[in-house]
Amino acid sequence: MAHFKWNDNYNIGFKLIDDQHKILISIINDLYDAQRHGLLQSTISETLDKLSDYTVYHFSYEKELFAQHAYPKAAEHLEEHDYFVDKVKDLQLELSKGSIVLSLKTMDFLKDWTITHILGSDKEFGEFVKQRELGLE
Ligand SMILES: [Fe+2]
Repeated sequence: MAHFKWNDNYNIGFKLIDDQHKILISIINDLYDAQRHGLLQSTISETLDKLSDYTVYHFSYEKELFAQHAYPKAAEHLEEHDYFVDKVKDLQLELSKGSIVLSLKTMDFLKDWTITHILGSDKEFGEFVKQRELGLE
């Protein structure tokens, strides 16, 4: 069962970004499953590594787009990305020490941050580009 369902409301108007967000959500779902089914620590670690690698890749793609569009709110948006990347790195570290299992609270954090970020900052960027293309900005 998916814990984090894609909702068309998450579309920000860039097909490639929307597709990347879908992949991000599916990795978070894999983590939920690994956690819920009490899968091996190694499986959870691998999935967390996948999440870490993919967020770095995805965020650098967004960063390039901000540059292409001379996005004025790029700096604060990128700070949000850094915050998330750091959180995921902390989790990787803790997990590698065997000191934690991913709690439901942690899973909810990953999910809630992602939804809030897509619906807030990412949509704002999508709107900015749209307005510009319409010559309103
Ligand atoms: Fe973003």
